[in-house]
Amino acid sequence: MAAAVARGWAGASLRPARMLFTDSGSGRAQALADEVGGERLDSVEDMADRADIVVLAVKPAALDAVAPRIAGRAGGVISVLGATPLALLEPALAPTPVLRTMPNLAVEIGHGVICHTPLSDEARSGVLGEALALLGSLGSVFEIREDEIDPATAVMGCAPAYIALAVEALIEAGVEAGLDAELSARLVSEAAAGTGRHLLTHDAGPMQRAIASPGGSTEAGLDELARRDVHDAFKAAVDASLQRMAGAR
Ligand SMILES: NC(=O)c1ccc[n+]([C@@H]2O[C@H](COP(=O)([O-])OP(=O)(O)OC[C@H]3O[C@@H](n4cnc5c(N)ncnc54)[C@H](OP(=O)(O)O)[C@@H]3O)[C@@H](O)[C@H]2O)c1
Repeated sequence: MAAAVARGWAGASLRPARMLFTDSGSGRAQALADEVGGERLDSVEDMADRADIVVLAVKPAALDAVAPRIAGRAGGVISVLGATPLALLEPALAPTPVLRTMPNLAVEIGHGVICHTPLSDEARSGVLGEALALLGSLGSVFEIREDEIDPATAVMGCAPAYIALAVEALIEAGVEAGLDAELSARLVSEAAAGTGRHLLTHDAGPMQRAIASPGGSTEAGLDELARRDVHDAFKAAVDASLQRMAGAR
């Protein structure tokens, strides 16, 4: 996720003046610094000392090990940690202020969805306000209640994977129906991209009904999907994600 955020900022007009990276020894920080322009630092402490804002993008289980090395050093922290509430983040990072966010992968191309917990007017006028402005160049930003973050994660955080799954399945079906694999991939991906844009201004239900003329081919396909209860499958997927998040705490 750190790489996605960095790539998004590298291509944005409003972006950090400099980006600093570190890791736990994999070499990914150096590779990312080389790719997007930036500097790899040897330690979390060094990075926190030099950074106005740290994007904390470790796995939630690493919070206890990493937070004490940032606390009191960085100006502010943007946390992207899943299933990690402010009740854990704030004491771990104090006195450094922290913004709890949940971005999805499309931040990498500046079309992400970024949810964050509410910020007071006072906090908005400080470093976390600057953090929020930078996040705005990565996509659409939504301020939501903290108890909405997990459900939001389960739909918009996971959505790129679910939509990619639907695209993959349609590409395979296209190949089985006789299309060349590359052509099927292009056709379905272009259709998905166009549909994504369309959905920004059209509701999902009416859009299906508008395409599925009575007795037509789309109606036949939608009927088959309804028989397999796709809605129920997605509800089960969201429930499974929520349970995993609850279990992580
Ligand atoms: N994947 C998503 O789509 C997504 C979406 C929203 C939020 N998130 C959240 O993003 C966070 C990261 O997920 P991810 O999939 O990007 O994980 P990841 O690929 O494992 O990346 C974690 C990074 O943190 C570094 N790290 C871990 N411990 C460290 C330490 N002690 N000192 C310095 N660096 C350390 C790792 O270094 P190494 O490279 O050396 O291992 C790695 O580069 C998670 O909390 C997740 O909930 C993920």
